[in-house]
Amino acid sequence: MHIIVRENAQEICEVAAALVRAQLLRKPNCVLGLPTGSTPLPLYAELARLAAAGQADFSQVTTFNLDEYVGLPREHEQSYHNFMWTNLFSKIGVRPEQVNLPSGIATDTAAECARYEAAIDAAGGVDLQVLGIGHNGHIGFNEPAEAFSEQTCMVELTPSTIQANRRFFETEADVPRRALTMGIRTIFRAKEILLIAYGAAKADIIRQTVCGPIQPGVPSSVLQLHSNVHLLLDREAAAALSL
Ligand code: F6R
Repeated sequence: MHIIVRENAQEICEVAAALVRAQLLRKPNCVLGLPTGSTPLPLYAELARLAAAGQADFSQVTTFNLDEYVGLPREHEQSYHNFMWTNLFSKIGVRPEQVNLPSGIATDTAAECARYEAAIDAAGGVDLQVLGIGHNGHIGFNEPAEAFSEQTCMVELTPSTIQANRRFFETEADVPRRALTMGIRTIFRAKEILLIAYGAAKADIIRQTVCGPIQPGVPSSVLQLHSNVHLLLDREAAAALSL
């Protein structure tokens, strides 16, 4: 793992944006894998700034998001569709046909997962996958489990993830209990991975991700086996690593 530590989220995002920009320059029609959540927001702001300044061209990219809540239509304020259009897509000039997210309202979820996986394959696989990380080591919505998940699938969110997502909804009962997510194998097949974490609350899971045993109880630990991972951390998130 290539570990990069900077003082704060802003500095981390400048590094992350530079890596995205390098990917765009190498391959203008690249496939980007994208997360939602709080972590990517400064990166998305920086990418929007670069696009507005004519320093990043997203006109040929294809994007695939990691996940979407089951039961939320794309128009819902808290859907990941809406999150992505609000925070990134509308600001970097991509067209709807360039972007992909699983549908949270598909009646046949198994078929929707298979369709999504096939679409990633048809696009040639993900070139650069950006990830955040849950406090329990989830990546995408692959929660700690008995085995690493494989393809895009439907998952039950754990109580800790429901609690963490509670802040975006009016009541806890409104927080969706299930999501469609790229599987661990889907994520692992990306050619390059950029995992970003900030803050003291992520320090212990970052230590487990980097130095702990590789086990499905800590889904992010599988990244130790990937040959091209950058871990971008602020000082607090890196505090439990002996660097
Ligand atoms: C969301 C996703 C999740 C988040 C994780 C961290 O698309 O893939 O794995 O990255 O829950 O969330 P934040 O960034 O809000 O701490």
